Amino acid sequence: MLRSEIEITMSSLEEPLGLDKLPSMNTIDRIQRFSSGACRPRVDNLGMGNCWIEGPSCSTSNSCDEDNEEYTAETFPWRMQTRDLSRGDSFKQKTVTNGRNSMKFGAIDNSFYASDYQYSPKSTNKNVQDMAYKFMKGIPLFVKIVEVGPRDGLQNEKNIVPTDVKIELIHRLASSGLSVIEATSFVSPKWVPQLADAKEVMQAVRNLGGIRLPVLTPNLKGFEAAIAAGARVVAVFASASESFSKSNINCCIEESLARYRAVTCAAKELSIPVRGYVSCVVGCPVEGPIPPSKVAYVAKALFDMGCFEISLGDTIGVGTPGTVVPMLLAVMAVVPAEKLAVHFHDTYGQSLPNILVSIQMGISAVDSSVSGLGGCPYAKGASGNVATEDVVYMLNGLGVKTNVDLGKLMSAGDFISKHLGRPSGSKTAVAFSRVTADASKI
Ligand code: HMG
Ligand code: MG
Repeated sequence: MLRSEIEITMSSLEEPLGLDKLPSMNTIDRIQRFSSGACRPRVDNLGMGNCWIEGPSCSTSNSCDEDNEEYTAETFPWRMQTRDLSRGDSFKQKTVTNGRNSMKFGAIDNSFYASDYQYSPKSTNKNVQDMAYKFMKGIPLFVKIVEVGPRDGLQNEKNIVPTDVKIELIHRLASSGLSVIEATSFVSPKWVPQLADAKEVMQAVRNLGGIRLPVLTPNLKGFEAAIAAGARVVAVFASASESFSKSNINCCIEESLARYRAVTCAAKELSIPVRGYVSCVVGCPVEGPIPPSKVAYVAKALFDMGCFEISLGDTIGVGTPGTVVPMLLAVMAVVPAEKLAVHFHDTYGQSLPNILVSIQMGISAVDSSVSGLGGCPYAKGASGNVATEDVVYMLNGLGVKTNVDLGKLMSAGDFISKHLGRPSGSKTAVAFSRVTADASKI
């Protein structure tokens, strides 16, 4: 089928995919198996991914207070299994600052272990404790957030965002502590005119200290242009769906893998790390449900050609934990969890539960987009990515470090939302803005 024919036949999925479409597996047993030792190592000694997990140190008031043992023991008890838990009840407040407004909130407020559960070592309810450990023990101490807003977000905007606004957004995101920000794409401006200024954007941000700025490169032409503009990390993007591959990059999966082999070879010669994407990992707007084995095949091909990390993209956001878990199991059978990232679009509001099960299974890299910007121009029905603010809020609540300052992040989100003339797509940002607006009336 030609690209034009696919564009005509593409339609958004009206229903989320059901469990009945998937092979049956003893999911819980396997989650438990994958959960042990799931924390991502601080120093990646496996090469290319080194320093991706490092970012500016946790200096802000809303970042998680891992160093405070008392706080950690009380608030995140599954982190303290080997430590003494018998301490008094302390409840520390954290402060989130958004522009001139700041508010305090308890670290406990979005956690399941509120006082109802009496979740403490003295608790007589052993079942509740067991349940908590069972579900929380695999959660990593640190999650690397890959901010994709300037690329995945802005590639789908109807009105082209001016270059200086893109550059300012990247600077603001960087100042929030994000250590990886996907800056733009070196793709055909005919297909994605929104990012036709890739060269100017890259040249303006290339020297941002301590930040990784990957860019999409669909072929050698894009790779060469990216390197010339100063890119030091690139990403290739394949699909688990033939139809989506043709519609997105105008070639079949095997052809795309051959192109990406050429890109990874050229990158290797220059010691440029290459990230790999697999799109449509749960469903495709044309083909419907995608079998996990197809996703695993493409992920392994990208991994084998040298991609240091494979991001699994639910491009149209149809996945639920029920479909994401079997997909991850299939991929993890061929690519180690520490080499995987997840990339959820939030069409059906399933991104946060999908991220939660993914990190429970040992994945510690999550893609997200400030203010929930995003979508793919070649995936009709794809909504924005999960909002970075919402991911950070959830991870803070779980006691997982991200090194991201939520207040500064929300201010970056506010900047781009104002420019686009619409409210933020982040529930967290909207909630904080309401709370601070209400507080200012008191
Ligand atoms: P094509 O038309 O098949 O390419 O495009 P071609 O080789 O026949 O070349 C056609 C023209 O494009 C030529 O120019 C080339 O020079 C030019 P002309 O001679 O006609 O003037 N060209 C390029 N120009 C600039 N940069 C390049 C480049 N390559 C060729 N790199 C191509 C093939 C892949 C280039 C095209 O289909 C394309 O750019 N597609 C864009 C796809 C895209 O960006 N999609 C969105 C990103 S993917 C995504 O969002 C999913 C993700 O977020 C994960 C998820 O959510 O699942 C990553
Ligand atoms: Mg995407």
